[in-house]
Amino acid sequence: MRPSRSLLSRVAVLGAAGGIGQPLSLLLKCSPLVTKLSLYDIRGAPGVAADLSHIPSPAEVTGYAAEELEEAVNGAELVLIPAGIPRKPGMTRDDLFNANAGIVRDLTVAVGHHAPKAIIGVIANPVNSTVPVAAETLRKIGVYDPARLFGITTLDVVRARAFVAEALRLNPYDVDVSVIGGHSGKTIVPLLSRFPALSQEQVQQLTHRIQFAGDEVVKAKAGTGSATLSMAYAGSEWTFAMLKALRGDKGIVECCYVENDLQQPSCRFFACPVELGKGGVERVLPMPELNVYEQQLLETCIPALHDECGKGIELGVKTHLTPDE
Ligand code: NAD
Ligand code: LMR
Repeated sequence: MRPSRSLLSRVAVLGAAGGIGQPLSLLLKCSPLVTKLSLYDIRGAPGVAADLSHIPSPAEVTGYAAEELEEAVNGAELVLIPAGIPRKPGMTRDDLFNANAGIVRDLTVAVGHHAPKAIIGVIANPVNSTVPVAAETLRKIGVYDPARLFGITTLDVVRARAFVAEALRLNPYDVDVSVIGGHSGKTIVPLLSRFPALSQEQVQQLTHRIQFAGDEVVKAKAGTGSATLSMAYAGSEWTFAMLKALRGDKGIVECCYVENDLQQPSCRFFACPVELGKGGVERVLPMPELNVYEQQLLETCIPALHDECGKGIELGVKTHLTPDE
């Protein structure tokens, strides 16, 4: 039976041939929630699409070559952007800003023109800055809707769930953790106070591990890249939640990095629990109650997040659109 019109979900992955792009595309191809999957990259996307198209699932997969960006995003309801350079040992995410801000900017221009109503999920780092770049770029084109632009910080939640479950010997599927703030080091603020079984020492160790888990993977991969498989998993979890909300499912809450003047007046973008809906952000939930330790973590997060966010806003505001953009 063909899916009904209301259940059609067109997802585009930009950067689909990369370390994240490939496994993310595989997970999306295997989901009954996706009916059309457009894969774009500056190299290799048609090959990835040909490979995935042999999997018997409803999603129709098409790969687009470098010069076919417009066709790739045309009509997409959800666009995921993992395109960008990953870290090497010794680098911070902020070191990726110069390279990746331009990539996100260019891809966002195309989405703004050819899929102006699409929900956009930015994965490319530094997320704290690339999301504001995308926001200001969309604003220049005249199609910015804060409810439709997300930084995907689900990997922090996924890690928090895995590490807390391990520490407390719980089934990870039964563990839910909110992670607020941003997606870099001390801007990542896991809220572990809802687990009274954790000692304060465990909370501190787990907090540090969640904040610097990305470095753990970068170090282990020894120069060949950063987290790809766990990010693909996290990105697919976020995408499935978003697609369910788009089709009308209620009560879906995810921690995401969104424009948000409710939580922290000094940070225009802030990750927090968000109820998803047919238009993207349905509602930013009230700030969870923080204990003294979490409050301290937040106080450390805010100035760094303010700066990283501001850097993205500044570049986005300065960006110049050429006549054909
Ligand atoms: P990768 O180098 O393996 O893949 C990136 C892909 O992007 C490549 O295939 C490349 O050809 C493509 N690309 C580059 N410029 C492009 C453009 N203009 N248009 C389309 N495609 C383009 O890197 P990766 O490991 O997949 O990581 C990608 C990004 O995701 C990095 O910036 C990384 O830091 C980030 N990341 C974010 C999170 C998160 O939690 N948000 C987690 C892990 C990694
Ligand atoms: C992560 O958290 O794993 C990603 O942001 C990639 C990185 O550079 O650490």
